[in-house]
Amino acid sequence: MVSPPPAAGPEPRRPAKLEVYREADYAADYDQRWHGRSGEKRDARKAQSLLRSLDLAEQCSGTSFHSIVDLPCGTGRFSDLLMKRVEHYIGLDLSTQMLDHARKKFVCARYLAADVAQLPFADQAVDVTVCIRFLHLVRCPKLRVKFLREMARISRSAVIVDYRHSRTLRVWGKKIRNRLGMLKLAPANPSLAAIHAELQEAGLTVSSRVSVHRAPLLSDKILLVCLPQR
Ligand SMILES: C[S@@+](CC[C@H](N)C(=O)[O-])C[C@H]1O[C@@H](n2cnc3c(N)ncnc32)[C@H](O)[C@@H]1O
Repeated sequence: MVSPPPAAGPEPRRPAKLEVYREADYAADYDQRWHGRSGEKRDARKAQSLLRSLDLAEQCSGTSFHSIVDLPCGTGRFSDLLMKRVEHYIGLDLSTQMLDHARKKFVCARYLAADVAQLPFADQAVDVTVCIRFLHLVRCPKLRVKFLREMARISRSAVIVDYRHSRTLRVWGKKIRNRLGMLKLAPANPSLAAIHAELQEAGLTVSSRVSVHRAPLLSDKILLVCLPQR
């Protein structure tokens, strides 16, 4: 299933926010955010919406999934959940520090150090790719499209992506505070229309939207089930 990566092309500059995960201390503390009552609640909500998205993706594509690439997998937040769902699980991340923690927690899992921009897989090598808690860190739409194209290329049936969008009370509140001069930076979440457009540009069509929060207007988190255009 693993093949050499394609030749690298020019790409927009990557945000520093993506680099912090290569720091040993940052990687060691990463799982702390899912500890405590509210952390556990947030984690469980995301896990539930991920399982629901996988069910919908199977229904839409009319196939059962046997292989998943979880990218970036970080410290293996969803490795256990996804390994229980399919026979072939691969977790992929650029940070060997994050992967070290994942390997210690899940000795049976298969992990790869690689870049989402150049995935070391052949075209349509896996049934589905899932991408959680990554794209909102990539502020540049061009770079997001580059990453999404790679996901579309390697996925036979579906791509499930986690986005932060702008149609929520939280983002509207931030926009108002920014206009009143009370908040320096305007929120950068794209609109749902812009998200659909960039997924189309990457060769993906949205088939379902799954809200992570029970009250969608209170949260900007959404999972999108996308089908590759062939
Ligand atoms: C916020 S974490 C998300 C990890 C996991 N999906 C989760 O929900 O906890 C973002 C991850 O993206 C990884 N990353 C950043 N740039 C990457 C790239 N170009 N290719 C692969 N992984 C990358 C980081 O190392 C980090 O582990």
